[in-house]
Amino acid sequence: MRLILLGPPGAGKGTQCKRIIDAYKIVHLSSGDILRGERAAGSELGRKAQSYMDSGGLVPDGIIIDMMVAAMKKASQGYVLDGFPRTVVQAEGLDAALAKAGEKIDAIVNLQVDDALILPRMTGRRSCPKCGAVYHIETLKPKVEGQCDKGCGALVQRADDKPEVVSTRLKTYHEQTAVVVGYYTKRGVKMINIDASQEISKVNRAVLKELESLK
Ligand code: AP5
Repeated sequence: MRLILLGPPGAGKGTQCKRIIDAYKIVHLSSGDILRGERAAGSELGRKAQSYMDSGGLVPDGIIIDMMVAAMKKASQGYVLDGFPRTVVQAEGLDAALAKAGEKIDAIVNLQVDDALILPRMTGRRSCPKCGAVYHIETLKPKVEGQCDKGCGALVQRADDKPEVVSTRLKTYHEQTAVVVGYYTKRGVKMINIDASQEISKVNRAVLKELESLK
């Protein structure tokens, strides 16, 4: 299965992806996680991405398309794309790569949530820098405060979860990414709209029910 998960920052894309890959044994390809990994490794790609990420803007399309197409080629068992494509240019780049490989996207899961709910989700988020697990200080607490449940060690708060950067990221989403939904709707790709303002387990049940109906 090949899926795209769309939604604004803090919609719960990473949270739901972890549950989808467990259910379908496919790979989670998060553009944000890959970029953060490159930054942690001190690579040239990571250095190029740094200023865009810290300010809440988008990393240039060419860099992202090459990075994600390379990751997709290694995921022969199927994947869920998280955070990509984020512009129409990226969607066109993805389409071109899929056409070349004779593949297609089976469905898009579009997580819908009002902006008002986003800020408390982001400022309370804590992430594991090693395994990528995502927690929240109130709604999804780890078993031991500040520690990953999988024994990886200390959780961190992302630098781009500061309130002022979150508002820029939301603005970027509305200006450049929301149009990607229309792009795929026009092309007749199956669009699954999910109310992501509900609690995590309810969102998950709704997503998995819709994905089951694709079989
Ligand atoms: P990226 O890492 O992709 O960030 P994002 O899309 O802004 O999404 P987030 O990871 O912040 O949120 P999420 O939807 O995954 O929410 P989560 O599940 O963690 O990108 C970071 C940066 O990299 C970008 O700003 C950009 O600079 C660059 N970049 C990445 N991709 C790019 C691209 N394609 N092109 C150009 N640049 C790119 O949940 C958030 C919190 O809410 C958690 O604490 C969670 O526990 C909680 N939560 C989740 N669901 C619920 C719920 N239903 N109810 C209550 N709490 C919930």
